[in-house]
Amino acid sequence: PKFPLKLYSHQVGGHTPFFWISDKALCKPLNNNERDFYELINKYHHDLNKFLPKYYGVVILKVKKHDNNALKKFIVIEDLTRGFKKPCVLDLKMGTRQHGVFATKKKRLSQERKCELTTSKSIGVRMCGMQVYKTSTDTTIFHNKYQGRNVSKERFSHEILSFFDNGEKLLVHYIPDIIIQLKELYSIVKNLKTFRLYSSSLLLYYDGAWDTKNDTEIHCKKREQYNSEKYNSNDYVTVSCPPSHPNEPDLGYLFGLKNL
Ligand SMILES: Nc1ncnc2c1ncn2[C@@H]1O[C@H](COP(=O)(O)OP(=O)(O)O)[C@@H](O)[C@H]1O
Ligand SMILES: [Mg+2]
Repeated sequence: PKFPLKLYSHQVGGHTPFFWISDKALCKPLNNNERDFYELINKYHHDLNKFLPKYYGVVILKVKKHDNNALKKFIVIEDLTRGFKKPCVLDLKMGTRQHGVFATKKKRLSQERKCELTTSKSIGVRMCGMQVYKTSTDTTIFHNKYQGRNVSKERFSHEILSFFDNGEKLLVHYIPDIIIQLKELYSIVKNLKTFRLYSSSLLLYYDGAWDTKNDTEIHCKKREQYNSEKYNSNDYVTVSCPPSHPNEPDLGYLFGLKNL
């Protein structure tokens, strides 16, 4: 069927644009690691699903670009901001390491440098993008990933608080619930011994048009996955950048969660 894909307009981070495929779901350009991650979690680790958007599978769409039609693959995932009047979203890049297990040397060095220069290395999390609705001026403010990279370790908690600042007051009543959810996420990730969540985004979001305790939600989403059953220690020759502690859970991610 033919239908226009509308650009998803509340994206605060990421590399590629997303599209609305319905009023509930988004199309995100396919990344095989991400698809495998959703499928493995659905099969083996249901407990993490509550921290993931619903995953509906892969679609192939004919996309028109400069008079050419190209077939492109997308994953279809739940739109977490559906129905929100004023979506406020904070994208946190988690972990002390960002490069995947198949990274080239060049990629590894550039990612390591970014980690060194940002809070990724020192606290295991960095701000990636943010949008916050200010009731006082009826405007939404944006911070991009470059602003996020410039946040120092000392300023980090202050910047996080600005996500709860609606221009009139700090919505601190959201925080206790978020801490409970982060702790739950911690205990789940601690048991994901064969997974690596390099470069994954943890999204915090709420509807800025509402200011009641019930609507806080926090959401986490992972992109890169590494499954050591697939690449056990005998197979390291095939992997350019193996994890340093293959039999442990993702310690860099847990470090970031603890600091959050
Ligand atoms: N399920 C979702 N619902 C609503 N917004 C989303 C969802 N997933 C991602 N986003 C938005 O898109 C941005 C980029 O998403 P992300 O999955 O981190 O992309 P990438 O894998 O390229 O880093 C996020 O910062 C967020 O604003
Ligand atoms: Mg991301």
